[in-house]
Amino acid sequence: MRFSLLSSCLAFSASLIAAVPTFPNAQSTRDVDSEFDYVIVGSGAGGGPLACRLAMAGYKTLLLEAGGDANGNVNISVPGYQAVVTADPKLRWDIFVNHYKDQNRAKRDPKYVYEIGPYEYHVGPNPPPGAKDLGILYPRGSMLGGSVTHNALIWIIPHKQDFDTIATITGDDSWAASNMNQYLNKVYQWLPNMPTDPSILLRDLPLARHLVAGANAVGIDVPVLTPLAKLSQLLLMSPNSRVNPARDATEGYFQVPLTMKLGERSAVREFILKTVADGHPLTVRTNTFVTKINFNTTGSKPRATGVEYMEGEYLYKASPLHRTNFGKRGSAKAKREVIVSAGTFNTPQLLKLSGIGPAPELLRFGIPIIKHLPGVGTNMMDRYEIPVNVVHEDDFSILDGCTFDLKPHDLCLKQWLDNPYILAARGAYASNGLATMMLKRSSFASTSDIDLSIFGGPLNFQGYFPGWHDFSVRDHKHFSWYSLKAHTRNRAGTVELRSADPLDQPEINFNYFDTGTTAGGADQLDLGALIQAIRKSREALADYYKFPILGGTNYTEEKPGAHVQSDEAIGQFIKDEAWGHHAACSCPIGEEGSPMAVLDSEFRVRGVDGLRVVDASVFPDIPGIFIQSAIFMVSEKAADVLIREAKAADGE
Ligand SMILES: Cc1cc2nc3c(=O)[nH]c(=O)nc-3n(C[C@H](O)[C@H](O)[C@H](O)COP(=O)(O)OP(=O)(O)OC[C@H]3O[C@@H](n4cnc5c(N)ncnc54)[C@H](O)[C@@H]3O)c2cc1C
Ligand SMILES: *[C@@H]1O[C@H](CO)[C@@H](O)[C@H](O)[C@H]1NC(C)=O
Ligand SMILES: *[C@@H]1O[C@H](CO)[C@@H](O)[C@H](O)[C@H]1NC(C)=O
Ligand SMILES: *[C@@H]1O[C@H](CO)[C@@H](O)[C@H](O)[C@H]1NC(C)=O
Repeated sequence: MRFSLLSSCLAFSASLIAAVPTFPNAQSTRDVDSEFDYVIVGSGAGGGPLACRLAMAGYKTLLLEAGGDANGNVNISVPGYQAVVTADPKLRWDIFVNHYKDQNRAKRDPKYVYEIGPYEYHVGPNPPPGAKDLGILYPRGSMLGGSVTHNALIWIIPHKQDFDTIATITGDDSWAASNMNQYLNKVYQWLPNMPTDPSILLRDLPLARHLVAGANAVGIDVPVLTPLAKLSQLLLMSPNSRVNPARDATEGYFQVPLTMKLGERSAVREFILKTVADGHPLTVRTNTFVTKINFNTTGSKPRATGVEYMEGEYLYKASPLHRTNFGKRGSAKAKREVIVSAGTFNTPQLLKLSGIGPAPELLRFGIPIIKHLPGVGTNMMDRYEIPVNVVHEDDFSILDGCTFDLKPHDLCLKQWLDNPYILAARGAYASNGLATMMLKRSSFASTSDIDLSIFGGPLNFQGYFPGWHDFSVRDHKHFSWYSLKAHTRNRAGTVELRSADPLDQPEINFNYFDTGTTAGGADQLDLGALIQAIRKSREALADYYKFPILGGTNYTEEKPGAHVQSDEAIGQFIKDEAWGHHAACSCPIGEEGSPMAVLDSEFRVRGVDGLRVVDASVFPDIPGIFIQSAIFMVSEKAADVLIREAKAADGE
């Protein structure tokens, strides 16, 4: 009986999701043999919107994506499955990175991973004999829509300085924030967003008690006897105001907008599907892994002419379902340009494999040099993130019936599937679980803007490792305040080839804290901000006890733990256990003449023609607080640049 409930749920969900149009997975080969105006590699935050806009402008566009389309898979649709979806083996790449090159130091992190068999992992100390060092898991999505289709849905627009700085560095005024605004308008043409329905939260009083405590901790006067009225007001406060001129520097307590429509994830993937369904000349090839960019080298400057690829599922070895190194080979030609949007790790890898990168590294792997460009795979930045986790005696009732496992007993899934989005009827799964945040400017911020966002939710989030999705919701008794340090200073990250095999993942080193950028005490300043974030999180937890009227049990701090109190001890905890998930800046736009600049201000790869990069790797500095918004805007800008140039070339 239980089984039939499951199948009816899933059947319903499939038909629900099938409401968005789908496209035939494999187009006819005739299509691909012919020439396209543009060939784009990667359908994520950078490549997806760009492909749609080029096709909408009438240009014949080919979008090549290594992953498949997760059509009908509830994992990608249910916001409450934001952790579950990152574990779906069909959709994920297990990328392992080093926070520190020194493996003994790296192993101080309890999230350090060893390989004990093919795609079998041991996490933390005391690995079994023969276990192989891997590093820290860095989740990446490989599917239509890229990592956007499995991210945490958080939608926070960039700071003005993120773009103004690019204008200053390059002298290209079109990057000024005042001009970039039009691209945010364009993003809003296809991207829905909405916060968690406040009434879902207000039904769980002990959870609301933590949330009002967070507001209290950032200096908002919350009445002790009637806190909920104040919380309801605060839950209306958007962090994305476009009318408040002081928005970027405004501290306070805010709702967390999510990229969803009626409680269901909707973003880049849906824009791509709609563009195809509307009949624009966009050809999408999923399960197509690009191995090389081709060049015509007869002229004075090498010119990108197309790409080589392999067709097949799970070809990249980072896929846990990888079985074969052989796919059907093919190639595609670009009449106008090739655009690489494979993400911060894969874009520099593909450029290097194609002969664009630091000459000594390419020579080491026997790769013929098309253009010596030493900046490829350097300058990589990320945020630092760190939690304070507590455990209560009782469960949070908001999670009653939520098993996060798609089984018949997952009553929260049933509620999400069976109900319309009104009066909070879809329940807890219409949220990603992180409904509110404190925004703060630490005393160590590099600009006048806020540099800390601290999210609260009923889960045990300690960062990424195999199984984190299960660990973070294994019981319903945990609450976390979890901080992101924005505008970090470390730019010492690198992406280097491990081999000349395009299916191998590259060697990725973030070089955290004192092993990275230290000029001007940069590492200490970032660490100082994070120590303040932990103290602020603890203040919010202490303020929980000011609102006993809301009921709920006492808690015990688990991480960092009550014994971790001095700046030194907190700092050590941060250096050992911090993580990131917004890797960026590995093929930076830069000033004319700077040897380390990979791109010019119009996304052109320097020294070659017909080749651009459009994704998270283009930024000279990591933008904003959450990164997808900045990438979407950049993707819209790139479309504008390319279309204008194409029209000029055609004499229009
Ligand atoms: C778990 C997680 C949660 C996140 N949560 C948030 C959030 O809440 N809010 C936010 O703003 N940001 C979030 N992010 C970050 C954000 O989603 C990413 O930074 C963003 O998607 C990066 O965009 P991109 O275009 O650079 O790369 P991706 O979106 O990763 O797209 C790259 C695509 O290229 C494909 N590809 C790579 N190599 C090849 C090749 N050789 N051939 C063909 N295809 C290839 C990949 O399969 C992939 O689909 C999150 C990220 C993760 C991993
Ligand atoms: C969803 O992801 C989980 C892993 O977290 C996986 O076990 C499950 O099979 C996926 N569901 C579907 C419908 O593919
Ligand atoms: C390569 O470029 C040159 C001009 O630089 C052109 O004459 C030639 O036709 C191109 N070759 C191919 C195969 O496209
Ligand atoms: C819970 O914490 C409060 C505030 O610290 C304290 O007064 C109370 O005695 C605690 N209750 C229990 C059962 O520990």
